[in-house]
Amino acid sequence: MAPLDMKPNELESYWLPFTPNRSFKKKPRLFAGAKDLYFYTPDGRKVIDASSGLFCVNAGHTREPIVKAIQEAAARLDFAPPFQYGHPQVFELSSRLALMAPGDLDYTLFANSGSEAVDTALKVALAYHRSRGEGSRTRFIGRERGYHGVGFGGISVGGMVANRKMFGNMLAGVDHLPTTYDRARQAFSAGEPEWGADLADELVRMIGLHDASTIAAVIVEPVAGSTGCIAPPKGYLEKLRRITEQHGILLIFDEVITGFGRLGYPFASERYGIVPDMITFAKGVTNGSVPMSGVMVRKPIYETHMQGPEHVIELFHGYTYSGHPLAVAAGLATLELYKDEGLFEKALANEKAFAEAMLSLKGLPNVADIRPVGLMAGIDLDPLPGKPGLRGYNAIERMFHEHDLYVRVTSDTIIVAPPLIAGQSDFGQIRDRIATVIKAVA
Ligand SMILES: Cc1ncc(COP(=O)(O)O)c(C=O)c1O
Repeated sequence: MAPLDMKPNELESYWLPFTPNRSFKKKPRLFAGAKDLYFYTPDGRKVIDASSGLFCVNAGHTREPIVKAIQEAAARLDFAPPFQYGHPQVFELSSRLALMAPGDLDYTLFANSGSEAVDTALKVALAYHRSRGEGSRTRFIGRERGYHGVGFGGISVGGMVANRKMFGNMLAGVDHLPTTYDRARQAFSAGEPEWGADLADELVRMIGLHDASTIAAVIVEPVAGSTGCIAPPKGYLEKLRRITEQHGILLIFDEVITGFGRLGYPFASERYGIVPDMITFAKGVTNGSVPMSGVMVRKPIYETHMQGPEHVIELFHGYTYSGHPLAVAAGLATLELYKDEGLFEKALANEKAFAEAMLSLKGLPNVADIRPVGLMAGIDLDPLPGKPGLRGYNAIERMFHEHDLYVRVTSDTIIVAPPLIAGQSDFGQIRDRIATVIKAVA
């Protein structure tokens, strides 16, 4: 046993998530500080953060009002039990979120990560149907190329093979809509593709196959984020809404990335003019500063649960850290900052310039597609023959070690999503550095 005063100074013990550990440990990439658009390395290099951390630091890093709010909360109320008790700020944050969300999505259950939010939403869907005497509705429909975190519920409805294949059968009875991505029809186009709304009709086929009475909910990301930024075809989400409504199936929008300004609105639901039955959120709610997530549900879902004797718990679900005081303080300060600086509007105003900067990478070696929407863009690189992911990994290494750039890369796809405070000259810098890296890994 190591003595308590011993300072470990080696990389071995930490098992990094979603990381090739052996490659990383041979040549580590470390951040020691951050401010606004930049990370700082332990040796003092200033690295552009072109993916807002992991799509969460929407207002830029270590913003003063958020830091102060967290510090004050830590000194005032470090913890309050969320079961059977509350603290004033958590009610305030819920009310603020209800005002921001569309329609009657007025009730929030808090959790701590996007994965927990997704599993919470799936459980609420099951409990809702069961409370209404439709307990046969247990099936979920996700979508190919969807990402809904790493809980058993999330990987079951998710559609990324690498996240699923090692973990057995997962949730039973899940089916998947086809991805809406079709390179031949949409390559190098910005925003929502003109083609593809009819892919929502696949849901009708699935209802024919499984029967609506077995289906609890459909869950999709309005824009698929982690699999490379795939915007919905025009009219597709509207169709999903119509079909689900007709058949008593709940529609869950997973807005863990698309919430809080990434698409120029508080939620993508507003951009697309749709009121889903539930919205999951995380990341940007606290600007990434303290873990927090949640599920917003429509009034009828909440009310369905408010039956039975009043002393009995209505939903047997929750987390020790649901609505943690530090996260709530960070959330309140974050929402205030977004409003004060008009960051959602700024993102919308910058969408075109950002798309132009990204699309100007067309023609560089191995660039197979570029898909900008909002302040987010996926850039597909052709894989090295027989070695999928290697070109992407080489890009990560070059970006960090040689070009002072951080951008999220999954397999051979680069996903650019700068903080919403970024402006045109930042887009230019990001573009130039990515261009250099793309050439270097050709
Ligand atoms: C749409 C979506 N859902 C869920 C998650 C999972 O969030 P977390 O990593 O906080 O569990 C993510 C993470 O990127 C996401 O993009």
